[in-house]
Amino acid sequence: MTFFGYKPSTLILWVVLCLPALAILPALFGDDAKAFHRLLHPTGEWAARFMIIGMMASGLMLLFKGRSWPRWLVHHRRDIELAAFAYAALHTLVYVIDRGTLQRILDPLWKTEIWTGWLAMLIFVPLAVTSNDAAQRWLRAGWKQMQRLAWPAAVLVLIHWAALKNWGSWPPAAVHFAPLAALSAYRLWYWYLRPRPARPTAA
Ligand code: HEM
Repeated sequence: MTFFGYKPSTLILWVVLCLPALAILPALFGDDAKAFHRLLHPTGEWAARFMIIGMMASGLMLLFKGRSWPRWLVHHRRDIELAAFAYAALHTLVYVIDRGTLQRILDPLWKTEIWTGWLAMLIFVPLAVTSNDAAQRWLRAGWKQMQRLAWPAAVLVLIHWAALKNWGSWPPAAVHFAPLAALSAYRLWYWYLRPRPARPTAA
């Protein structure tokens, strides 16, 4: 059964992905400048959360081999990463509008917590634009290599978050990124360090 060509599970997933936006909308379209500025907090946090969940999909499939829910997550990774990009784009838009002038946007660019955010966003744009089947067919092997740029972008987001408030933001940043870091360490161990049975030597 499908609705407009989408499975019910995909539609339910998108409802869930849109839920944080519902809390954001009143301040986005209201005329309270302080509430608008405060939107940097939920938009940034949900962008990072969905990015992390999407990036954990492959590791979870490896860890919970044979279970169906990690396969479902891998199947919907693109939707989750797209939602992450939408929240990141909204976060950037709120920042730009909140700063108000080009000068006020350029002035803090040298700060670690600001240039890391911009650089991460710069990497996310081509990744989001090419996250469709047509681009995947067109770029062939290059597509996978390009998608690997998500990893340096994630490191930039981690630094961006941790460096806020004079590095006082590192605890929430570390808590959010810890599961992804642990799963990535597990994947590296699994692929490169795991003891494997010795191959029988030819007689
Ligand atoms: C486009 C460039 C970016 C700029 C200029 C920028 C700017 C900012 C600023 C000024 C804050 C501080 C908000 C506050 O405490 O008042 C912030 C917070 C944050 N940003 Fe960004 N950001 C950018 C991109 C990103 C991206 C791409 C992500 C994630 C994918 C992200 C995730 C976060 C997170 C998680 C926070 C912390 C939210 C909190 O707990 O307060 N940012 N950003």
